[in-house]
This record gives sequence, structure tokens and C-alpha cells, in this order.
Amino acid sequence: MREFLVAGNWKMNGSIAANGELVAGIAAGVPAGSGFSMLVCPPFPYLGSVGSALEGTAGKLGAQNVSEHAAGAYTGEVAPSMLKDLGCEYVIVGHSERRAMYGESSFQVAAKFQAAQGAGLTPILCVGETLEEREQGATENVVDFQLNAVLDAAGIGAFASAVVAYEPVWAIGTGVTATPEQAQEVHKHIRARLAEVDAGIAASTQILYGGSMKGENAAGLLTMPDIDGGLIGGASLKADDFLAIAAAAAQG
Ligand code: 13P
Repeated sequence: MREFLVAGNWKMNGSIAANGELVAGIAAGVPAGSGFSMLVCPPFPYLGSVGSALEGTAGKLGAQNVSEHAAGAYTGEVAPSMLKDLGCEYVIVGHSERRAMYGESSFQVAAKFQAAQGAGLTPILCVGETLEEREQGATENVVDFQLNAVLDAAGIGAFASAVVAYEPVWAIGTGVTATPEQAQEVHKHIRARLAEVDAGIAASTQILYGGSMKGENAAGLLTMPDIDGGLIGGASLKADDFLAIAAAAAQG
């Protein structure tokens, strides 16, 4: 009942020329009606042009961050309604890079999640532990805390139109991928946590894996029962690499 979602988080990469080439390459490799969804999340300044380039293709548009405020004196911030205006369907909230480098708390992430939904965007809520937390056996506690902040603020009903991404911090940009079993264990835990509140919503919520996902390891991860796609950084910047992951999703 859950479709795969293959999502590229371009982070702070790209240029007008490079983006054009990348989107053309992706679009050529994924015909409409492929049975799974493909999403790209470029930096803010390129949302308009990438959105135009995606028109008529199977690709969807998302952003990497959003303000929790609707409008006003918030220099440098981008409102949810602006993303909607530009054709975004999705927005990533609570990426570990934003939590670690920009001090975003789980409570602020919950506010962003709600603001995004309020504007009709689907939030992709990122959760995940650091290596130290994993070694201390705290993975489930960390993920629960990050999830609970959103559950408390928005309620389980909000997860009917949201995506969760499990991104172990130690696997992001390191080349070290969680094994399919390690990832599945946490994905299963996340779904069980949601199911404690509403089993139906838990069964339909897409839970993506992120962290050094690439063509070579995608198939193993995507065959796991609770892994519903990927949130891909480095390997989303080259059409061939991204399409290799998409090919694994198409087979899964
Ligand atoms: P990498 O795929 O580069 O490890 O990045 C994962 C990520 O952070 C996606 O949001």
C-alpha cells in the first residue's frame, strides 16, 4: 500500500548550468507512470527554474528547509506559502545538518512541520542519532524524542500527510551506510511508535532511509519491509547515480 519515494537532497550544491543538465538526465531516465515517486530538493534560489524544468516529467519539487513563520520581519527566511507558490509539494524539516549547525531544536522542527502542512506542503521529517548516541544504546530514545516533539505538537493525524526520513548522522556523507538490518530495525521502531497512537496511519506513512545511499546498496535497503524509499544526498547530484537508485526502487 506504500509507494516508494526516491528523493534527492541537493544540499548547497548546483548552478543554473549543472541543474539543467541534472534534471534533463533524471527526466530522461524516469518515464511518467513508473510506479514510484521521484523528488528533487534544490537550494532555494533554483526552485523556480528547476520546477519549470520538471514540468511534464515524473519528477516532483521540494525544498530543503522552511520558516515556521507565515510572513513578516524574518530576514533571510522563506515562508511555506512561498514554497507552495513556486510549485513545491514537499519540504524537508529537521535535517541533522540544520539541527547540528543551525541549532534547530525538535520543538522548532515541529513548528516548521506544522507550518509546512498549514500551507499544503508535505513535510519530510528527518530523525536520526549520532554515532555516540548509537554507541550508548540511545538510538531509539533519540528518535522517539524527535518524533514525539512532532506528535505532541501536531498529533498523529498529521502523519497521514507527512513523510519520515531516518537518517543516522554517522551515515550522512561518510560513505558508511547503515546495513539493511540496522536501518530496518529503526524503521520498524518508528512505525511501531506511530502505531501505538494509530495503527492505520502508521501502516501508510512512508519512512525513507538516508545516509550514503547509492546504486550499489539501494536494492538491499529497499527490500526491507519498513523502508519506503530514500533521501539521497551525494548520489542525487549525478543523474546516473540517482537513476541507479531509482532503478532499485522500480524493481522493489
Ligand atoms: P548522503 O547521501 O550524501 O550521505 O546524504 C544523505 C542526506 O543527508 C540526505 O538528506
